[in-house]
Amino acid sequence: MNPLISDLALYDIANTPGVAADLSHTNTTCSVKGYAGEEQLADALKGCDLVIIPAGVPRKPGMTRDDLFKINAGIVAGLTQACAENCPKAMINMISNPVNSTVPIAAEVLKDAGVYDPRRLMGVTHLDVMRARTFVSRSKGGDPNTIDIPVVGGHAGVTILPLLSQTRPFPKGGFTAEEARALTHRIQNGGTEVVDAKAGAGSATLSMAAAAAEFAHSCLRGLNGERNVLEHAFVESRLVPGCAFFASKVRLGRVGVEKVLGLGKLSDAEAAGLKALTPELSASIRKGFDFARASIPALTSSSTANAGSRLAAAPGLGA
Ligand code: 2OP
Repeated sequence: MNPLISDLALYDIANTPGVAADLSHTNTTCSVKGYAGEEQLADALKGCDLVIIPAGVPRKPGMTRDDLFKINAGIVAGLTQACAENCPKAMINMISNPVNSTVPIAAEVLKDAGVYDPRRLMGVTHLDVMRARTFVSRSKGGDPNTIDIPVVGGHAGVTILPLLSQTRPFPKGGFTAEEARALTHRIQNGGTEVVDAKAGAGSATLSMAAAAAEFAHSCLRGLNGERNVLEHAFVESRLVPGCAFFASKVRLGRVGVEKVLGLGKLSDAEAAGLKALTPELSASIRKGFDFARASIPALTSSSTANAGSRLAAAPGLGA
């Protein structure tokens, strides 16, 4: 339904023709096509300007996003390799968890293929921003559609750091220390709230899809030449020493991330949160790099023989 999309290609290892037929009955001029099975992956990707990757397995209660690493890391590496081969200039919106590691994996795969452009690789953290807007406006008033709250760091537990002190418009009376603590905790654990409520049936899909659609729309607005499109994303960054990737406010343009914006002034509690998240985020990034370096030789040799052949993926949302 997004007027900026002219062709939508849906890929999974199975079931995409049905989803494509279903979607294609909506009243839009957009062409919708389903591609199923690894042998159709290359055709799905050719000509794409934007690739959204939500593939992999989701969490069950008691799991952290990092527990998904073993399965999702290989899926993401294979899909990114296929992007490198078939649409090397496309922007990539990475949703598959753990985002703190899958984005570094994708970066290494793209680097190895000689097509890495840090401006075009983005981890989608927009659901954290949506949760911050929703939870804060529900407890302090304000319109969740227009309130602005930076959420920085990464996309897992304590690495998600909402900067409530920079909320605009700032709520009357501000936040007590206890309110700020409770809201921060809820925003950091929003994904787990859904995982627990679904009791084994997966993680957020509808709010995640809404967040992915909003974020993709902003990427397309930038691609279309619109000025001053601001969003948050987990991108290559020099903002925090020790974290080669970091989520912050970014300006999107024709080539993707045109500018990584700064963190602004942090409250004492936020500065402590930043200090606390750095070791975990840095370790997750390293884990992604190490995985990619170890798996790239097998990935590139199998992809030459059969593009995407390492995608032994279970279908579903890996988020
Ligand atoms: C979330 O619920 C799915 O990671 C995603 O935050």
